[in-house]
Parts: sequence; C-alpha cells; structure tokens
Amino acid sequence: MNIRCAKPEDLMNMQHCNLLCLPENYQMKYYFYHGLTWPQLSYVAEDEKGNIVGYVLAKMEEPEPGEESTHGHITSLAVKRSYRRLGLAQKLMNQASKAMVECFNAHYVSLHVRKSNRAALNLYTNSLKFKILEIEPKYYADGEDAYSMRRDLSELAGGDQERPALEDGTDAGGDATIINNHRDAGHAGHDGHCC
Ligand SMILES: CC(C)(COP(=O)(O)OP(=O)(O)OC[C@H]1O[C@@H](n2cnc3c(N)ncnc32)[C@H](O)[C@@H]1OP(=O)(O)O)[C@@H](O)C(=O)NCCC(=O)NCCS
Repeated sequence: MNIRCAKPEDLMNMQHCNLLCLPENYQMKYYFYHGLTWPQLSYVAEDEKGNIVGYVLAKMEEPEPGEESTHGHITSLAVKRSYRRLGLAQKLMNQASKAMVECFNAHYVSLHVRKSNRAALNLYTNSLKFKILEIEPKYYADGEDAYSMRRDLSELAGGDQERPALEDGTDAGGDATIINNHRDAGHAGHDGHCC
C-alpha cells in the first residue's frame, strides 16, 4: 500500500471511488478545481498495482469573519470497502493536514459529517482529535443533519517544520504503508459549499 499526493490523472479514479462509497458526489470539474488549485493537499492510497483504493480531497478556505489566517477543509474522504480498517483514512487525513500546515500555515482543518456516520465520527473524534463545533440542521440534500467539526493543527506547526512527527512516526510506522510526501508548489484560493 502506498500513500502519495494526488496527480491530475488520479482525479477520475478518485471520483469513481467517491461514487462507490458516498452519496455526496461531485462533477469532475470540482475535482479538477481542487487538484489544480491546491495540488499539495489531496492524497490517494494505491494498492500494489497502482489502483486507487482511497482518497482525501482537500482545499483551503478564506478566513472566517474575525479570523486572521486561512484554514483547511476536507471536502471528501473515502476508502474502498475491502481496504477499510487498515488505517488508510487516518493516514490520508494526517498527510492532508500536514500539507495544510506546511504549505499554507493552516491553524485548523474543518469538515462536515453526517450525524449517522458512525465509522467516520469514530475516525474523526477518536483517532484524529476533531471536535464538534455545531450541528448544521438539514445540511445534506436528503435532509440529514451534519456535525461541523474542527481539528486544531497547532501541534503540527511547532518544532521541525520540515519533518513533523506524522510522516515517520506516530501513525505510519509498523505497517506496510509507504507514505510518499513529494509535492509541487501551489497557491491558495476559495470556493463555496462542500460536503
Ligand atoms: C470512514 C472511512 C473513510 C474510514 O476509512 P478506514 O480506512 O477504514 O479508516 P481507518 O482504518 O483509518 O480507521 C481509523 C479509526 O477510525 C475508526 N473507525 C473506522 N471505521 C470504523 C467503523 N466501521 N466502525 C467504528 N469505528 C471505525 C476506528 O477508531 C479506527 O481505528 P481502529 O481500526 O484502530 O479501531 C471509510 O469507512 C469509508 O470510506 N466510509 C464511506 C465513506 C465515508 O463515510 N467517508 C467520510 C465522509 S465524512
């Protein structure tokens, strides 16, 4: 298993993985918008044959009113069914978060999750230390409420900016997943709604 930064040619396979795993789907242009605007932030997990088995699609947001700095946002995350509970989602999320700090000095990362999504809620609260900020009623098209969540990224910002602990230590060690952290330079931007 290999985790690496997503390339433009991965975006169609990421969309395919999204269609298999989630009811929230996006047009191809939304994937390209992410991949071309923030090429450092989205990651894929691939098997030995190079098939995409999971992805995280991420972006930067403009500061909220009263905030000084930008923050990151997770637009979509999914891992194919037969590759779950291997720690891939946790690693994908950590890599994207680390890139948000290193490339854009993000102070926190935000996301939305369905109230009924127990697997994702466990991942976010237990493994990744996200906190629930608020409930957004009827956030999803089918009327389900969302938890709006945030993870403080200041722990990733301190100390050695070149090699924060996540890359070589806490969650990547001791298994067969290779984390490949090469990224190209890019720039920030913003857009509106996301899942
Ligand atoms: C949610 C999802 C991305 C998790 O992917 P994953 O690679 O299996 O997650 P990980 O292996 O990194 O899990 C890390 C931790 O999250 C929690 N977790 C993950 N799946 C879980 C499940 N089915 N039930 C309970 N807890 C779960 C556990 O605490 C797990 O640690 P553990 O395996 O040591 O107990 C995956 O189930 C998925 O793609 N679901 C459909 C799409 C989706 O819901 N995306 C999120 C939208 S907000």
